[in-house]
Amino acid sequence: MKEKDKPIKIGVAGLGTVGVGVVKILAAHGDLLAARGGARLELVAVSARDRNRDRGVDLSALAWCDNAVDLAVRDDVDVVVELIGGSDGPALALARETLKRGKSFVTANKALIAHHGKELATLAEEKGASLRFEAAVAGGIPIIKSLREGLAANAITGVHGILNGTCNYILTRMEREGLPFGEVLADAQRIGYAEADPSFDIDGIDTAHKTAILASLAFGTEPDMGNLAIEGIRTIAPVDIDYAAELGFRIKLLGVARQMDAGVETRVYPALVPLAAPLAQVMGGTNAVVVHADFVGRTVYEGAGAGEGPTASAVVADLVDVARGCGGPTFGIPAGSLKKAKAIPADAHEGTYYIRLRVEDRPGVMADITAALGREGVSIQSLLQRGQAAGGGVYVVLTTHKTNEAAIKATLKRFTGLDCVLESPTMLRIEEV
Ligand SMILES: NC(=O)c1ccc[n+]([C@@H]2O[C@H](COP(=O)([O-])OP(=O)(O)OC[C@H]3O[C@@H](n4cnc5c(N)ncnc54)[C@H](OP(=O)(O)O)[C@@H]3O)[C@@H](O)[C@H]2O)c1
Repeated sequence: MKEKDKPIKIGVAGLGTVGVGVVKILAAHGDLLAARGGARLELVAVSARDRNRDRGVDLSALAWCDNAVDLAVRDDVDVVVELIGGSDGPALALARETLKRGKSFVTANKALIAHHGKELATLAEEKGASLRFEAAVAGGIPIIKSLREGLAANAITGVHGILNGTCNYILTRMEREGLPFGEVLADAQRIGYAEADPSFDIDGIDTAHKTAILASLAFGTEPDMGNLAIEGIRTIAPVDIDYAAELGFRIKLLGVARQMDAGVETRVYPALVPLAAPLAQVMGGTNAVVVHADFVGRTVYEGAGAGEGPTASAVVADLVDVARGCGGPTFGIPAGSLKKAKAIPADAHEGTYYIRLRVEDRPGVMADITAALGREGVSIQSLLQRGQAAGGGVYVVLTTHKTNEAAIKATLKRFTGLDCVLESPTMLRIEEV
């Protein structure tokens, strides 16, 4: 048997949604994967918490490890797939042990890579092993490969993504059904679309993990959660969705990584996206990423961001790459060359903004509002005033010309101090992507 025809022996840790999906693809596509990878991908050992659970797949011929780290130690395992989750604990211990032994490591775990990516990439490169995590960002969409390989000729200027299916599903239903956030969230939890503890998703942390990884690949910086300013979707009200539509926008939770003169800006926030833009068309649990790069221009990637089949598809694609011997540095440049990203203060953000105010319905109010804007040098691009607001008064909604966030924050402070303003103003950024 030629060296390259030797099977690649695989150990899988975690047999939940994604793990079971991987077992199914390996069983269904054995010949196809062998032809593509140049070697058979042979599953030999697995690990999960509950050995007796029926997972709907035949595991009888496989070795079972109660302790996931044992997968890395076994002589008959060449490559470890980690599908447990969590930034630390067993996932991190397994990653370290696998790579330390010079074995390749494939994971779908964004938290692990966002928090420990540089350390693990350094270890992988030192030991000549592969560290692959295509499934960690946007599930089935090959965005990691696109940034690392397909766009390697370009300097990347910006990456914008809808990276959390739960948030996009909630925003889609709020818009279509006119329902408040809390009601849609409760229903999403009831039907299993949102976790019992939904904060990772709705407070933007999951999107932040993915944004940190994309920024690293795009800009050659260390994955760094410390530099990320994170806002979620709890505060989005149906009235803002309606006004956004009236102004020609749709609200989406975005992960944003942008090259600026002073450094790299990485943020997560709900933003108004023009209705005609590709990201505005992305509804329900779907994910999408828009990349701007100097020579190729704009490229757009869309597909299923989660779920058994799409996520396992990305994991197995990584295994095929490992079988082919595809190497190259984990984040596109050697781990030792990844720069520490220079934090850009949120106040330096330049852009256009949406502001909604609930104000008293009396003469002179508009003059007070425009005076507050004028004092901070913020100019109005459009302005709407509608009849009675819930809770009394009227809503005044405006969008601004380009300005910086420091000026917007100062303006909001002035608004809050006005007698005619009846509640804290709502501010959202506008992203023309
Ligand atoms: N689900 C998706 O659509 C999706 C999409 C993209 C990325 N991901 C990522 O993929 C990973 C797995 O997600 P999932 O949805 O498949 O999770 P899941 O359904 O909750 O499954 C987790 C699995 O890990 C096992 N496990 C937990 N602690 C363990 C330990 N100490 N040792 C060994 N096994 C342990 C569990 O065992 P028991 O079954 O015995 O309890 C379970 O089989 C996560 O990093 C997640 O962020 C998931």
